[in-house]
Amino acid sequence: MSNMSELAINGGPKTKTTPYATTQRFGAEELEQLREALEQNTLFYGFGNKVKQACELMQQYTGRPYVVACSSGTAAVHLSLIACGIGPGDEVILTPNTDSGSVIGIIAEGAVPVFCDCNENMQPDVASIAARITPRTRAVVVVHLAGYPAQIDEINALCTAKGIGVVEDCAQSWGTRLNDRLVGTWGTAGAYSTNDFKHLSTGDGGFVTLEDETLYRRVFNYADKHYDRFFDLSQRQAHHGMNYRMSELQGAVAVAQLNKAEAITGSFHAVGRRFEDQLQNLKGASIVMPLSGGYATYWWSLLHPDWSQLRCTREELVAALQAEGVSCASYGGYDLIQSPLFQQGVVRPWLEAPRCRYPFVQPDGRTYTYDYTPTPTHKRLLETAIRFSVNGAYTNQDVDETTAAIHKVFNAYLA
Ligand SMILES: Cc1ncc(COP(=O)(O)O)c(C=O)c1O
Repeated sequence: MSNMSELAINGGPKTKTTPYATTQRFGAEELEQLREALEQNTLFYGFGNKVKQACELMQQYTGRPYVVACSSGTAAVHLSLIACGIGPGDEVILTPNTDSGSVIGIIAEGAVPVFCDCNENMQPDVASIAARITPRTRAVVVVHLAGYPAQIDEINALCTAKGIGVVEDCAQSWGTRLNDRLVGTWGTAGAYSTNDFKHLSTGDGGFVTLEDETLYRRVFNYADKHYDRFFDLSQRQAHHGMNYRMSELQGAVAVAQLNKAEAITGSFHAVGRRFEDQLQNLKGASIVMPLSGGYATYWWSLLHPDWSQLRCTREELVAALQAEGVSCASYGGYDLIQSPLFQQGVVRPWLEAPRCRYPFVQPDGRTYTYDYTPTPTHKRLLETAIRFSVNGAYTNQDVDETTAAIHKVFNAYLA
């Protein structure tokens, strides 16, 4: 057992002495692609080739025949919901431990978000999804959180049997697999983000992957104001749509990034595995593990402290870890239920009055309120877990010093 006085927070020597390594994400490949994009003398995807090339690379990467490029991960989830045919009054199930980009498309379509629980490894819980299904359920948004796969094989089977669409939100899970199959290739649609905080970055951007040609046309058109540019011009503006287009500049960077996707996600995998190996025998906590058959790409990770074995609060533990130089925080930010939008059941985007309670109050009188009753595991993780950073750029020394610091702090606080 370590001595309390050895902890950096108590004046002892710091364990992680060097700054975490970072990597240069953009280089000669991106510059070359951008130069080619500019030389096309157009930055519109319809006339240029970069977005088209990026979509072809996504087809090869995922093995899915149809890909639509778009402006963000939020747009990609929204478009995927369009593929599932959601509309006003439909219910869409998702976990609350996610970014608001997972839920915005649901509300934008006048559909109702219904929260299901996650399990210990942060992913949507199959039994909880099943329990939340009603005759009005039209789709499930399966968020593969933090580079770990959800139990997408079972969720997909459950939903397919009931005619419910499956949107895989892969924003945080580039390269993640279950049973050797990429996430994003199981459900009705796979939604990806290339915002600057993701494994692959184009600044902002996103992709939707699909199996079905009819849905591809629907999604392609919805993403471009239903201009129907490449299909049947008589159908132009036959439906409404958004301008969710990706520009040629984003497309150019996407080409360069997709060419190194395996290398980027592979380094996240290697760093995450090293953390796992070194924290297997941690006393006083366990590290979150991928499902059996899962290949994780560790966008970040989680520790589950066993508070019965520890004599400190979470805040004290996190402060001690941070004092050692560990990049970590109390897990708590990923919670849509606590956001004012759901607490008040009010959509208040532009004007203070009149407040609009749709879709939380439906025209048929149905009302939806949000609390933690259906999501006890999610609530427990928010209150007890510790999140720590993983990055593919980390050196072995970064990981080794971090895990040494984690062992040191937990040992010191063991009861
Ligand atoms: C799980 C998840 N879904 C969707 C999004 C939305 O992506 P974007 O920021 O590109 O709109 C994010 C972004 O943080 C995310 O983490």
